Order: sequence, then structure tokens, then C-alpha cells
Amino acid sequence: MLPLRVGIAGLGTVGGAVLRRLTGDAAAIAARTGRPVQVTGVAARDRAKAAPLLGEANWFDDALDLARSPDIDVFVELIGGHEGVARSAVAAAISAGKSVVTANKALLAHHGLELAAAAEAQGVALAFEAAVAGGIPVIKVLREALSGNTIDRVCGILNGTCNYILTRMEAEGLGFAECLAEAQRLGYAEADPSFDIDGFDTAHKLAILASLAFGSAPDLDAIHVEGIRSITSDDLRAADDLGYRVKLLGVAQRTDHGIETRVHPTMVAKTTALAAVHGVTNAVAVNADAVRELTLVGPGAGGDATASAVLGDIADLARGSTVLPFGRPAALLEHAPRAPMQRH
Ligand code: NDP
Ligand code: HSE
Repeated sequence: MLPLRVGIAGLGTVGGAVLRRLTGDAAAIAARTGRPVQVTGVAARDRAKAAPLLGEANWFDDALDLARSPDIDVFVELIGGHEGVARSAVAAAISAGKSVVTANKALLAHHGLELAAAAEAQGVALAFEAAVAGGIPVIKVLREALSGNTIDRVCGILNGTCNYILTRMEAEGLGFAECLAEAQRLGYAEADPSFDIDGFDTAHKLAILASLAFGSAPDLDAIHVEGIRSITSDDLRAADDLGYRVKLLGVAQRTDHGIETRVHPTMVAKTTALAAVHGVTNAVAVNADAVRELTLVGPGAGGDATASAVLGDIADLARGSTVLPFGRPAALLEHAPRAPMQRH
């Protein structure tokens, strides 16, 4: 069988892990999917840094050239950022008839609807399991597995960096800056960590989850966002004395006034499941009519955990499965009557 030919743009924490796993585990992945997967092209900024990883893959100085290359079937975008090269390369790949796999939640929160519509028009996939909660397969769960449910609420710890910082501050008594520096060293933080600590990364993820759960277009502007920048060790100690832990939560829920979406630090009782989610671990709790309550817990950031989700999407494509990016036609997301979002 002809291999599925993959081009990877971005070889940092996630892209490097994806490339290492795709080349190192090629035989096992082919056995699991029934089709070989071959990395035929790679793009990043620094060729010298990428050289040890390249193997048989062709180097591209420009991610746009890789996106349009006739030698790839799937374009894997792991650069980051919602404008600039990530956006133009994903759009170019779709226009050129390539399926896209991305971990870029900022891109999807800002431009997911237009990219989904373009992918649908081209008959290609736009897959983004890695964009929310790292290794937790929450996109598939909301989009596919829970299709028989009316979802009332999605709530979770969606940012590994913030949960790592809060956990380390509380458990070890370390300072905020020191914990953030550790999270950056471990590859958890965004290139600009203010996206993590000011709550915007959680908001990007919540916009995607709310879209999947409630059938509306991703709507960042509707989300009330507060981060953890001003949380101090004294705050954590005071919460502890009262029987609580502080977690940065993203919440999307039906209310009498429409869908409410918010991101903010929250005191959660130590007796609850969310209070026991430590370090880079993420958790997503879903309330729905048939399944009642479901909580998914797992690694929320880091190279290998995120690569797991990217590889799952690539394996889906190798198997030939296609699903609409947001589970229903983009035109329905845009035009369907929907509950008004609560504005803040
Ligand atoms: P890194 O900063 O580690 O890697 C980014 C890569 O993109 C680098 O290889 C960099 O090249 C390359 N790059 C930057 N600009 C360009 C450009 N103009 N053209 C080509 N390549 C470019 O980021 P991460 O791997 O951490 O994150 C990648 C994506 O995955 C982001 O969207 C992020 O939000 C998302 N994500 C990250 C997770 C994590 O745990 N880190 C988890 C889930 C999602 P060079 O190395 O040469 O500078
Ligand atoms: N910076 C993100 C986090 C990466 O810490 O959760 C995973 O999306």
C-alpha cells in the first residue's frame, strides 16, 4: 500500500516529539493502521538545529512551500500563533487539497470556522485533537462519542503550565516566577507564556470545547478571562486553611440567559476530583443528559503527551477516516440558531 506522506512544519517541543515517534515507531504505526506513514518533508526556522532529526525527509526553508508540496498528503502544523506563517501555511495546505493536523488552539479559536469551511469545501480533513488538553482525547469524546447527548456543561483544568505553577507553589512553597521558569524548561509553556498565565490559552481551548459541545462557532470575545498572574503563596495558604485548592478553570455551561463561558482562578474544595489534579495534568468534566457526568484526566502538555494526540490524528487519516472538523457542517455552526452567549 502507498504510504501516507506527511510534512511537518515546526520541530520544537511537539514537532520534534512527533517526528521522533513517527520515524522511531514507523513499523508499529503501520501495523496499527494498516498503512505505512512516511515523513517526506520538514520545515522549521533553524536547519542546523533540525539536522539531527531529519532522516530521509526533505528540508523546506519555507513552511508555505512544504504546505503546497506535491510530495505530501498531510500537512502537520506545529509552529504556533494565530496569524503569520501558521495561518497562511494551513490555509495554503487546504487550498492545495492536503489534509491538516494541528495542535494550534489559538489558530482554531480565532479562525477555526473559516478553516473548517475551507477544509469541507476541499474534501480534506482538519484534525486538532492535540489543541485541547494535550494527551486527553477530549475532541473525539465531545465531537463523536457523546453525539447522543445534550451537553449542559464542560468544565476543566485546561492549561498544564498554570496547574504546574499552582501545584508547585502550593506543595513546595516556591515563587511564581521560579515555577513558571520550570514549566518553560519542561516545554509546557507557550512561546509567549503570558498566554498561559493570563488565561488566554485556556480561553482558546474553551472556545473550541464550547463550539463542539453547544454547536456554535468558536467565540473568543464571549469569554470572560482572568489568569493566575496575581495569585500569591499567601492566597494558596489561605485557601488551604479553608479546605480549598486554587485551580484555573475554564467553564462553559447552559444558563437561563444562554451559554456562559468563563476562565478564572477558582477555589475548589479539597474533597473534589478537580482538587486532586496536580502538576501538568489536565482534567475535563462533562455534564450531559444521557451519560450524566464524565471526567477525563491526563497529561495536558509536553512533547510526548501532545505527540500522542497528533499521532492519533495522523493514524485516523492513514486509516482513511474523515470527520467534519467541528462535528457538523461549518455553515450550520455559523448560521444555526443558537443560545445567545452571555457577554461580560
Ligand atoms: P516550540 O516553540 O517548541 O516550537 C515551535 C517550532 O516552530 C520551532 O521548531 C520553530 O523553529 C518553528 N517555527 C517558528 N517560526 C517558524 C516559521 N516562521 N517557519 C517555520 N517554522 C517556524 O513550540 P511547541 O512545540 O511547544 O508548540 C507548537 C504548537 O503546539 C503551538 O501551537 C502550541 O500552542 C501547541 N501545543 C503545545 C504543547 C506543548 O506542550 N508544548 C501542547 C499542546 C499544543 P526553530 O526551532 O527553528 O526556531
Ligand atoms: N501551554 C499549554 C499548556 C500547552 O501549558 O497547557 C498545552 O496546550
